[in-house]
Amino acid sequence: MSADLSGLRELHRKARAALDPVHYDYYAGGAGDEVVLAENEAAFRRLALLPRVLRGSPARDIAVDLPGGRLGLPVLIAPTAFHRLAHPDGELATARAAAAAGTVLVSGMASTVGIDDVTTAARAVDADAAVWFQLYLQPDEDVTANLVRRAERAGCTALVVTADSPVFGRHRRDVRHGFHDLPAGLAAENMRGLSGGPPGGTRDIEMSPAVSWDHLSRLRELTSLPLWLKGVLHPQDARRAVRHGVDGLFVSNHGGRQSDLAPAALDALPAVVAEVAGRMPVVLDGGVRRGGDVAVALALGAAAVGIGRPVLWGLAADGEAGVARVLAVLRDEFDHVLALCGGRGLADLTPDLVVTRGPGRCGRCG
Ligand code: FNR
Repeated sequence: MSADLSGLRELHRKARAALDPVHYDYYAGGAGDEVVLAENEAAFRRLALLPRVLRGSPARDIAVDLPGGRLGLPVLIAPTAFHRLAHPDGELATARAAAAAGTVLVSGMASTVGIDDVTTAARAVDADAAVWFQLYLQPDEDVTANLVRRAERAGCTALVVTADSPVFGRHRRDVRHGFHDLPAGLAAENMRGLSGGPPGGTRDIEMSPAVSWDHLSRLRELTSLPLWLKGVLHPQDARRAVRHGVDGLFVSNHGGRQSDLAPAALDALPAVVAEVAGRMPVVLDGGVRRGGDVAVALALGAAAVGIGRPVLWGLAADGEAGVARVLAVLRDEFDHVLALCGGRGLADLTPDLVVTRGPGRCGRCG
């Protein structure tokens, strides 16, 4: 499928026009002054990629194997909440588009479709489709255990524990709109029927600053699924994750929705990659908007990237076809950039290609 040359910007415009402004701001907004939100994208624009020439790269292999599944392109769908705010098909549409593109959907705990229906939708497209389940460790560990069992029964092939949310982020756009609850008829379906919730209803998702590495250790004991830790920015936490039997990391600041003092995700990547030193794969999410961004993240050591908002824009603009378009655009742009760099495959994206933009700055290259 050939991609639209306008890239993802046009889809963002379409989504903005289609969405209720309150829901648009819920998706688009960040924490505090939205410094981190802006920085995530700005960090990519500060970097350039040096092309290599005459290397001979007729057929480029862009697939990547990760604990929990193979990606046909080095882009997976990061977990985002409440897809049915964007489109009536919600996470079902996202799951189908991910499966058709041969990539992983990390399905959110705060999904408006239950995880078993999400995996069923993905498998109807591709029997081997991999769906991962994202969760926040709950202070009541029976609730966490029940969620893990649900994900396992649904056939999820990895768990992603989001660790950057000891408390809820503060989003001024939502406060301004008075947006606190899902509209009638929508709910966080994975929380339905869990003990402690109202009969037949959904239990609230809790963010708890009491959650610790001990909770993660107990989760590690509870399941044999590959375990990813999401929201790691400090190299010492990466080191600790290795010791706790984690299988992979997401370097992420939650798309600028938690701490507004965090560094851009891309800026935090190299130190984490250096710390883990190949012991586990690192996925980068935050601010990826072009195929070239994917190439820069991979050159700095990411095994793959995750995308959050672009998927929501695709979904709001055109449902399943819109999400398919987002993935097709990124695939096409990424492959094109790889060719322009003389890359034969992902292994040719190396740190020496990455330089800082600006006069006299190319000295970083080897
Ligand atoms: C998120 N993100 C997120 N992460 C997570 O682990 N659990 C969640 O429930 C959510 N929910 C959520 C909602 C919305 C509206 C957004 C925009 C993001 C964060 C997400 O997984 C990812 O880290 C960022 O979205 C990546 O940044 P970009 O691609 O949106 O810039």
